[in-house]
Amino acid sequence: MKKSFFLLASFVACLSFQSCTDKVESEVFHYTSDEYELLTQSLDLPEETHDYTLVTNRPVPGFNPDLPFHKATLGRVLFYDKELSVDGSTSCASCHSQASAFADNEKFSEGLDGQVGTRNSLPLGNTIGFVKYYGTDLAFQSGFFSWDERFESIDQQSRAAITSSIEMGHSMWELASKLKADEKYQILFDKAYGESNPINEANILDAITEFVNSFSSRKSKFDKSLPTPPNSFSQANVFADFEDFSDSENNGKLLFNSNCSNCHGSSHNAIVRSSANNGLDLVYTDKGLGDKEGEAFLNGVFKVPSLRNIELTGPYMHDGRFATLEEVVDHYSNGIQNHPNLSDVLRDFATNQATEFNFSETDKMDIVNYLKTLTDTDFVTAPQWSDPFK
Ligand code: HEC
Ligand code: HEC
Repeated sequence: MKKSFFLLASFVACLSFQSCTDKVESEVFHYTSDEYELLTQSLDLPEETHDYTLVTNRPVPGFNPDLPFHKATLGRVLFYDKELSVDGSTSCASCHSQASAFADNEKFSEGLDGQVGTRNSLPLGNTIGFVKYYGTDLAFQSGFFSWDERFESIDQQSRAAITSSIEMGHSMWELASKLKADEKYQILFDKAYGESNPINEANILDAITEFVNSFSSRKSKFDKSLPTPPNSFSQANVFADFEDFSDSENNGKLLFNSNCSNCHGSSHNAIVRSSANNGLDLVYTDKGLGDKEGEAFLNGVFKVPSLRNIELTGPYMHDGRFATLEEVVDHYSNGIQNHPNLSDVLRDFATNQATEFNFSETDKMDIVNYLKTLTDTDFVTAPQWSDPFK
């Protein structure tokens, strides 16, 4: 019988006896001292799991709020474990590092044997806004993940990274057997899933997803300056100045909300358009959604990325072509190419030419200063998302 059923049964049976509720909690919530000793030989884990559900601010499945914490804890260990790659060289964090808001600062990320892919790593600070919620099948937008929106879920994206010959090079089956032989994983999977054979593909992917979905960057200067906290951004204050912003940041916010938020959004919690052509080139080598769908009208169309922590995630664009935010703003100011698929938002209706914003030098600086208010230093140092390996 599955242990979770046993726990449910004992929980129900125990409802009338306060003392045995405590017992169930202690079995589920904590590691035994032997377990903890073994885990802490290689891992720096707290005795009680970090609190992941509160930061994610989303519905909790099941009656036991602690299980997701153990799942996220397991996901954290998997995310940082280089053994997930076939030669022990690469973890998810190699290309998604916390200090870079879970992107990396390479143009193209390096995987196995120094091989490089063809895309710039994407930051993971905001994935929860775009994935399905527990308990409903409100799958938000299918095909949201990656620059060409290839994947529908973090499970799929993680599976692709683990099995890619450039990134980690494992089959899921090989990985599961490797983890089964590792005592720390026997404990961590047992805590998270409590099933008889918990180390399998579905649970590996589920735990990583649980961890990635717990990332929540909501403590930037921008968030702290919102007039009506927490986390709300009404139409009324899109254009109003923020008290805590400098004049430059407020002017940058105004320029951003007049020229950029049609795609990137004003609240930075969700994007407005999921994908667009923003006029980088007249001819694209990497055609983005066009390559994926084989449709000419999608050539040069890429995912519209979240701009949270953008200061930390350079270089920029799918191919990392711009080293700095100043270069990005120069592109929008007068570098937009009139590609046939250029978004209408960036095209001048009267002339049918690409928009030239021609920002003044001060305006450019103000936009960059505004973008820097999206940096969340708590997020990039928070212990619950940090590398647990000693
Ligand atoms: C070798 C570098 C590398 C490794 C290792 C890697 N990734 Fe990625 N990741 C990338 C790149 C590059 C992209 C953008 C891919 C694209 O658009 O084709 C990406 C995209 C993603 C995305 C999509 C984000 C978005 O907003 O669309 C997620 C989620 C993700 N990776 C999670 C993971 C997880 C989890 C692991 C470990 C199992 C992992 N990655 C391992 C390089 C890597
Ligand atoms: C038509 C929709 C659209 C508008 C309007 C728009 N962008 Fe973008 N933005 C995109 C797309 C799409 C990308 C990714 C393009 C790619 O990599 O090929 C992008 C990328 C970026 C990036 C790099 C993100 C990263 O992770 O590499 C920044 C920074 C940025 N935009 C800022 C702005 C600013 C500032 C403005 C206003 C001046 C603006 N955008 C207006 C669609 C838009």
